[in-house]
Amino acid sequence: MKKENFDKEHGHWILAKMGKKVLRPGGRELTKKLVSALHVSGSDHVVEFAPGIGFTASIVLSQSPAQYTGIDSNEEAIRSLRSKFRKSNAGFISGNAAHSGLADNSQDKVYGEAMLTMHADHRKEEIVREAHRILKPGGLYAIHELGITPDDIGTEEKAVIQRDLAQSIRVNARPLTKTEWTALLEKQGFEVKHIYTNKMHLLHIGRMIQDEGFIRTLKIGYNILANPSARRRISEMRQTFKKHEKDMNAIVVIAQKK
Ligand SMILES: C[S@@+](CC[C@H](N)C(=O)[O-])C[C@H]1O[C@@H](n2cnc3c(N)ncnc32)[C@H](O)[C@@H]1O
Repeated sequence: MKKENFDKEHGHWILAKMGKKVLRPGGRELTKKLVSALHVSGSDHVVEFAPGIGFTASIVLSQSPAQYTGIDSNEEAIRSLRSKFRKSNAGFISGNAAHSGLADNSQDKVYGEAMLTMHADHRKEEIVREAHRILKPGGLYAIHELGITPDDIGTEEKAVIQRDLAQSIRVNARPLTKTEWTALLEKQGFEVKHIYTNKMHLLHIGRMIQDEGFIRTLKIGYNILANPSARRRISEMRQTFKKHEKDMNAIVVIAQKK
């Protein structure tokens, strides 16, 4: 593996370059709950905001929706998704999920994982509003994001978590409490149907094996050891996650357009 300097790289891309496939906070377990709550059928038009490396896209495409569209703002990600799924009828758009260009009331299911968290509150609102605009009435919107607990956490503690996350993953991560995630969706006209949570154990060895399997976990471990710059950054991220472990979780919210 080519040794790169990862000092300024976003945390999730370092993990992806080390071979990690599951990059969402609640792991494969919470993703499975999200997908199963969406009940994707052969007549569904489905949109994924921020497919990243296409982990959930693979699961959803295996359920043969009528149409699948993935929108990611990272052009490199879009190029590799187009190549990975060239044999399917999936479409990928390079751009901002807040301006998908898709028609009003045209989609049955919209979902996104580990993408709202990285935006400021007004940007989160734009993206949720876009999901609402493109969904048909009764359509489902699912999110899988980073949460903060408890609901009544102090402003100061929350600011410290956000500052530490921003410093270690080099992304302005702004996780919300369960009440805040719910309010964000309700404000744009959604009705929350289900909420699932999990521990935020993205870099725990047990979760790594559960998400990636034993052999891949060994390969990821080897890649990290062989790359000092990635090792430094990942160890920094792990320390931050550990420090705030009791105040962070992973949350999936399934909501319906009224
Ligand atoms: C942490 S990764 C998560 C990727 C994938 N959803 C997953 O869980 O594995 C964040 C992804 O969100 C994409 N992204 C962030 N903001 C976006 C936006 N406004 N529109 C489209 N993609 C966005 C990034 O390019 C990146 O691929």
